[in-house]
Amino acid sequence: MKCPTYSSWFRERRLDAVCQILRLPAVMLSQIPGIGPVVKAASTTVGQKILMAITGLLLCGFLVTHLAGNLLLYAGAKQFNHYAESLHSWGILLNVAEVGLFTLFMAHIGLACSTHAMNRQARRSQYTQKESKQEPMALPSGGASGWMFVTGVIIAFFLVVHITDMRLKKNPFIDYSPAYQNGPEAGPDEFVAVRLVLTNWTAIAYVIGLLALGIHLSHGFRSALQTLGVNHPRWNRLLEIISLLFAWTITLGFLSLVTWAAMTSGTSN
Ligand code: HEM
Repeated sequence: MKCPTYSSWFRERRLDAVCQILRLPAVMLSQIPGIGPVVKAASTTVGQKILMAITGLLLCGFLVTHLAGNLLLYAGAKQFNHYAESLHSWGILLNVAEVGLFTLFMAHIGLACSTHAMNRQARRSQYTQKESKQEPMALPSGGASGWMFVTGVIIAFFLVVHITDMRLKKNPFIDYSPAYQNGPEAGPDEFVAVRLVLTNWTAIAYVIGLLALGIHLSHGFRSALQTLGVNHPRWNRLLEIISLLFAWTITLGFLSLVTWAAMTSGTSN
């Protein structure tokens, strides 16, 4: 056991404060007649883990569709731009979907912080030896589970960079003018814009972010299924393998696009 120091005491007080702040929305919602019991259940560690599993799996669904759309880059500029145009033609519906997606990300991140803080608060002392429920198939020393929080933080940073440079096209280190050859009113050529982003030095953030995603998913996907009751001694090994396959298929799929951009930059298609 470690001796409590001033810094650990200070860290515990900070965690208490974070927990109180994160609980506020739940406390306020639980006052609304009718939904109180549901909200109360969701403010327990178990309830939050279930919500985290559901939001995580929904985000996995987004990743599958997002990768499928982006793989159209291999089909060429015409097909990819057609896909991007049809997405943007959704207009207000796309904005609603974006708000929904943003809420999902925020809920997942908020729940992760909250359960992390609540677990730490409940224990009050750190494990001297960390153990994982799953066997370390992906990484040594506790496997990917010990990396969940840190990879989550890296993915969150990656998302900020990604939305800024791909969605908003506001990365100050990138000259987007080749994507606006037909004039600003015609909108960007998305195919050109994606290649500009992926061949800029900020693509390093993509490689780091995507590797963090692979580690995060390789544990997170299995863990979410386990939380939701998909758990049987006979099938557990198979489920672990499926999770690893899912995680690294998604990751390598995205990473292949970074490689493709580097190899084809300077060509017209
Ligand atoms: C090489 C990898 C990737 C490429 C080429 C890519 C490409 C894109 C593009 C082109 C957009 C803009 C779409 C638009 O203008 O409507 C976009 C948006 C977005 N991407 Fe990615 N993406 C990649 C990886 C990822 C990953 C790993 C995540 C999640 C962890 C992600 C999450 C998002 C989100 C949340 C948006 C905003 C959605 C929206 O506002 O419509 N992307 N991505």
